[in-house]
Amino acid sequence: MRVGILGSGLMGGKLGTIFARAGHDVVFSYARSEQKLKKLARDAKGRTRAGTPREAAQQADVILLAVHWSRIKDVLSQTGDLSGKVIITCSLPMNNDNTELVVAHTSSGAEELARMVPKALVVAAFNTIPSEVLFGVYESKRKARRPSLVYCGDDESGKGVATELIRDVGFDPLDAGPLRIARYTEPFALLVAHLAYEGDGGPELAYRFERFGTTGASA
Ligand SMILES: NC(=O)c1ccc[n+]([C@@H]2O[C@H](COP(=O)([O-])OP(=O)(O)OC[C@H]3O[C@@H](n4cnc5c(N)ncnc54)[C@H](OP(=O)(O)O)[C@@H]3O)[C@@H](O)[C@H]2O)c1
Repeated sequence: MRVGILGSGLMGGKLGTIFARAGHDVVFSYARSEQKLKKLARDAKGRTRAGTPREAAQQADVILLAVHWSRIKDVLSQTGDLSGKVIITCSLPMNNDNTELVVAHTSSGAEELARMVPKALVVAAFNTIPSEVLFGVYESKRKARRPSLVYCGDDESGKGVATELIRDVGFDPLDAGPLRIARYTEPFALLVAHLAYEGDGGPELAYRFERFGTTGASA
């Protein structure tokens, strides 16, 4: 797939690199320095390049949105029309000092984003996992028991695309339902971040849901 990265920082830089290693074409965009984008593309190897947000978005089968909440409108103003595009957002609606969700309970960042780009197919994924664990998950992907990754969205085709990328990174995708479930996954992401950054074990933390009972199958 052709993946356009909007926001090439901790999340976008690492996920874009992993997507490239998994065989996808990746365009890195939206950083404060073009040199950084070029270096990311060089270091990721594979079919990667640096581009503008417009190039990254318009040439993509799927877009990863990985910017701070305060930058969403700015980056969207640079992409051109996103009608029909699958947008996977890992962006959380955090305040400027990253201490609180500014959207919650009756809406979510993912739903607010979908309102900004009503004709795009928005999927919330990769928002519940610290960037520090991504390469470790990718390197362990041959193991039988993969960590879970919850995702949600209203469009089945968009979710299908997200599922493929989630598997490529090394997670076991867990469909949490429609986009409004982001009201639950976004606060859950803060729990994971709390455990990762305030806990004793360090930030390389992933999670796994297991289902017990009638089937005994994992979630
Ligand atoms: N980090 C995590 O573990 C994690 C986990 C789950 C969800 N999230 C969410 O994912 C999103 C991205 O987080 P992140 O940690 O990857 O953020 P980050 O490292 O700060 O990356 C954000 C990207 O946006 C770029 N950017 C910021 N201001 C810009 C501007 N004025 N013009 C152009 N580019 C600009 C940054 O450029 P530079 O590269 O030049 O700084 C960077 O490439 C956030 O919404 C966050 O809440 C993060």
